[in-house]
Amino acid sequence: MMQPALDIVIAALERIRQTSDHLPRASRTAVARLQASHPLIAYMPAAANKAELLVPIRDRVRACTKCPHLACSRTQTVFGVGNPDADLMFVGEAPGVDEDQQGEPFVGRAGQLLTKILKTMGFAREDVYIANILKCRPDTPTGTFGNRVPTPTEMQTCRPYLVDQIEVIQPKVLVALGAVAVEGLLGTRGTMRELRGRWHAYNGIPLMITYHPAYLLRNQAPSEKRKVWEDMLQVLERLNRPITERQRNYFL
Ligand code: URA
Repeated sequence: MMQPALDIVIAALERIRQTSDHLPRASRTAVARLQASHPLIAYMPAAANKAELLVPIRDRVRACTKCPHLACSRTQTVFGVGNPDADLMFVGEAPGVDEDQQGEPFVGRAGQLLTKILKTMGFAREDVYIANILKCRPDTPTGTFGNRVPTPTEMQTCRPYLVDQIEVIQPKVLVALGAVAVEGLLGTRGTMRELRGRWHAYNGIPLMITYHPAYLLRNQAPSEKRKVWEDMLQVLERLNRPITERQRNYFL
């Protein structure tokens, strides 16, 4: 490409980055290639620290009031947790009451089950990255218990933050937990029966869809637990992680 054309592309990317709510949709590899052919312009250093790149996204989430009803009702935003360099990233639905209080995803009962699943896979929570479609707890009428499913509008509004997180982290494998997470991520609705247990893709990243841990808490049938575990075995295989005989035979 001619240098003046490169100047225009890089300057445009930089402008989008500075003025837009989310990062421009240019893969880091593409940007690195542009830079390599045009070293004088500093745009998103290829070797930039992923943790540092997450900071401005976290700041935007923290200050977000795009859903005024959620900004009013939340205790705090729940950005994400774990290793920004993770090969494996989990995407859930939205913070529940425990997550809203602690500011960390998946710390309640469902989260404890997710942590157990991770442990059985051979991971600590710190090894993977965990985030939700929504960064605020869906509000519920005062005096009521339980969680509410995020609305499509809430998910659409919040999705760009997750898109940016994934763009920075660039995991080798994504796992969507439950049909709501799938709808938030891919914009497609489907039953878990149709969706789970096989590979999908999000922006070229292999995506495994499995049941939300809360489903397993509601439905303790060994057959359902085994399904989730089989999905996780596929994830381990895709990541080229060694699988022990014990893991193969495991029922959550
Ligand atoms: N359920 C989710 O989907 N996300 C959380 O963070 C907690 C429960």
